[in-house]
Amino acid sequence: MAVLRFPETDRLFEDEAAIRSELSALGIDYERWSLDRMGNDATAEDVLAAYMDEIEEMKRRGGYVTADVIDVNPATPNLDAMLAKFDKEHTHSEDEVRFILAGRGIFFLNIDGRVASVEVGPGDMLRVPSGTTHWFTLCEDRRIRAIRWFQDTTGWTPHYTGSGVDQSYQPLCFGPAYLGPRAATGIRV
Ligand SMILES: [Fe+2]
Repeated sequence: MAVLRFPETDRLFEDEAAIRSELSALGIDYERWSLDRMGNDATAEDVLAAYMDEIEEMKRRGGYVTADVIDVNPATPNLDAMLAKFDKEHTHSEDEVRFILAGRGIFFLNIDGRVASVEVGPGDMLRVPSGTTHWFTLCEDRRIRAIRWFQDTTGWTPHYTGSGVDQSYQPLCFGPAYLGPRAATGIRV
């Protein structure tokens, strides 16, 4: 489950319907999808096959032409350099669409000067429209596995705003893994 927070007002939402409603008002799609069909040792190919229907439906909804599985963990080569590309405020010329399979991260969205942070975890689907100013970072365990959709993979290049607003927000994770011992999720983390 995601955690939605508005840092300026310290409002925090952990209820699915409330998160969906609040994000919808900002033009961001949020959904919860089941993870029960994916085994602990599912390969990327297994995942793409298991979610074929959702992947194709999402392609139709957003005009995406391809999907893949990104898998990042602390042993990923050049992880710091990879993360540094996306933890500064930027936009893309296409939507950023992610279904989180494992791990946790935070999307910061800066919409009309109002910042919202969305901590996403397993089962969360988030669609950030093209042109939305945002930045992203991983939670402390530096782990994420997600399905991504693309209209054109070259569109995923970050266009930095250079605003520096990202420096003003602490990437604090509030999810279940950060409130004590990691909860048993039954999925690979
Ligand atoms: Fe991005």
